[in-house]
Amino acid sequence: MDQIIRIAIDGPSGAGKSTIAKAVARAMRIDYIDTGAMYRAVGYKTIAQNIDPQDAAAMRAMLDGTEIDFSQGNIILDGKNINEEIRTDAIAKRASQCSALPAVREKLVQLQRQMGQMKSVIMDGRDIGNNVLPDAEYKFFMTASAEERARRRYEELAAKGQDVNYQQVLSDIQQRDHSDMTRELNPLRKAPDAMEINTTGMGIEDVTDFILKEIRK
Ligand code: DC
Repeated sequence: MDQIIRIAIDGPSGAGKSTIAKAVARAMRIDYIDTGAMYRAVGYKTIAQNIDPQDAAAMRAMLDGTEIDFSQGNIILDGKNINEEIRTDAIAKRASQCSALPAVREKLVQLQRQMGQMKSVIMDGRDIGNNVLPDAEYKFFMTASAEERARRRYEELAAKGQDVNYQQVLSDIQQRDHSDMTRELNPLRKAPDAMEINTTGMGIEDVTDFILKEIRK
């Protein structure tokens, strides 16, 4: 059997992790696992079912009856493809809130570890190198200034024709950075053995090539 390779990519919102991870997965013909989408799926379900994330009993019951999986790169929640629905700022906020809850992390981290056990994967998130796949063969920590990340997000939303305000996008990103980095459980932090890549001013291809070269070294 071929050797299994696991690649962990962590970093703050908007650093370009998923775009790069998808490109690397394609080039290496391995699976891409978007762990942020899993937290978004939980956030999505709490909104759809009108569940207060602070209601521990309701959250526990909901999680017990929840199935999350990927099919051809799409996130599947209880059998339904919700890939498009979860890409909104409201879901991002709710996902960040849910991601601080022990019951949520316990369930999702267990699933993520299973996904990284049987085959080669590239997984992106906040705690992959430190917690989900501490033995990953390759670890990268992608950053970019908050202003650059806000600018990318602003342009993406504006291109979709949404009425957006740059200052609002920047302040949302700063708020989410703060809660992702200061939460008690597995906060966003660079793993000691991860290679840091500051993508400010770098294009998608530059970063993808850099990672592929590191892996092929
Ligand atoms: O990467 P994203 O924006 O899709 O992630 C949504 C939220 O989920 C984000 O606020 C942080 C959280 N998250 C996490 O806590 N751990 C992960 N491994 C991935 C995401």
